[in-house]
Amino acid sequence: MVSRIIPVERFDLIIFGGTGDLARRKILPGLFRRFADGQMPEGSRIIGAARSEMDQAAFQEFAEEAISSFAGSAPEDTVLKAFLDTLDYVTIDALGEDGWAELSAKMRDTAVRAFYFSVGPSLFDDLAMRLHKHNLVDPETRIVVEKPFGHDLETARALNKVLSAHFDESQIYRIDHYLGKETVQNLMAVRFGNMLFEPLWNSQYIDHVQITVAEEVGVGGRGGYYDKSGAMRDMVQNHLMQLLCLTAMEPPAKFDPDAVRDEKLKVIRALEPVEPHHIVRGQYSETGDEQGFRDDVENPKSWTESFIALKCHVQNWRWAGTPFYLRTGKRLQARDSEIIVVFKETPHSIFGMEAGGGRNELRIQLQPDEGITLKVTIKEPGPGGMRLMDVPLDMSFAETLGDHADTPDAYERLIMDVIRGNQTLFMRDDEVEAAWAWTDPIIQGWESVNDVPKPYDSYSQGPTDAALLMQRDGREWREIGA
Ligand code: BG6
Repeated sequence: MVSRIIPVERFDLIIFGGTGDLARRKILPGLFRRFADGQMPEGSRIIGAARSEMDQAAFQEFAEEAISSFAGSAPEDTVLKAFLDTLDYVTIDALGEDGWAELSAKMRDTAVRAFYFSVGPSLFDDLAMRLHKHNLVDPETRIVVEKPFGHDLETARALNKVLSAHFDESQIYRIDHYLGKETVQNLMAVRFGNMLFEPLWNSQYIDHVQITVAEEVGVGGRGGYYDKSGAMRDMVQNHLMQLLCLTAMEPPAKFDPDAVRDEKLKVIRALEPVEPHHIVRGQYSETGDEQGFRDDVENPKSWTESFIALKCHVQNWRWAGTPFYLRTGKRLQARDSEIIVVFKETPHSIFGMEAGGGRNELRIQLQPDEGITLKVTIKEPGPGGMRLMDVPLDMSFAETLGDHADTPDAYERLIMDVIRGNQTLFMRDDEVEAAWAWTDPIIQGWESVNDVPKPYDSYSQGPTDAALLMQRDGREWREIGA
């Protein structure tokens, strides 16, 4: 099967922070892959803009290294060269006037224009102001901003205010890269493209939902940022919240940006405040040769969490009585992210309790491998009465989809959506604020009692209290890495 390439219009993408880590790991390699697939139209250009004194050739070298390190299989020389030819560079000062006239001289009127703010939020105001001052913005211009989108509700509101002073909401693309992951979009396809699941998708048939985003890596070189953020702000407020929304939302009338985002917003607004005893915070400790979180963030007294497990409720007609358990953390047993929808048991077992068997589970696996599994109960083969067993109906995408399974990185998909002008997979201002409005009281609660996170061993399942959170309800987490 050959993947279908849906062309986009010719574009000029200007990356502020073009020599930064995100550009190197994600944006440039992602754009290269789209180019190699033939999706970047002739005449499109990518212009790096940053403080570093660099010329076009040096930026091309930077991009070449980024591509060979992060774009997957080794690129063909001719394709790589053709891609590098689309790159240009301007040394620019976000806080002053240097470089703006040069950038302005490079712009054309005949291409979609997008500015990627791959810089800290403190620069957004200055960048936006100078883009206008130098007449670089037209009504079709798009800007792309990255998380962290604020540190709490107040700062998120302030950022929204800054951006809305310069741009219309329809021009602002707030990235949550989890929405660009293929299986996350597949969740919508499975829910709304099949008749099978939707009638059962409610508290009458679903016992509970588990959402896990487990990482094996620690905080790496981002200790300074992470110590001020923690898992709640870094992962739950955005990525896990988005997964919860897509799982719990009502079917939108159509797959259009505001219809989808309206439904997600309703879910966030229906979330009940979380009871303090329904949250477990953890921090990875020194284990064997591996240093612990406090050494990683160089703060021996840090009370920041690298792990969160919590139980929450979406208080609406569809979900009343069905808990959602969320869990995320660093330095866990494996990189393993999934959504599991656990159905209720049959109301009566005609085979008797001793026959075994369990209940149906729909497991949507995000990473490392992407796929969907439906656990069903069948008869255990062989004579000797009716014994039941659970088996997975497995749709591992790599096997089933062949070439199609070479799924694009989330950034490839999202950047192309920016060029297409499709905001469906981007967060709207009210959505971000609603997510902070739910998260803030939880964090303030810990701060008010000086809550200390529970230590857990590196490469484990997290703190034992996380298991208890489920066990108290007669349920259990699926083992991370199983
Ligand atoms: C980022 C967080 O948004 O997502 C990181 O800031 C985290 O802390 C990362 O490691 C996880 O993304 P992925 O795509 O590797 O699951």
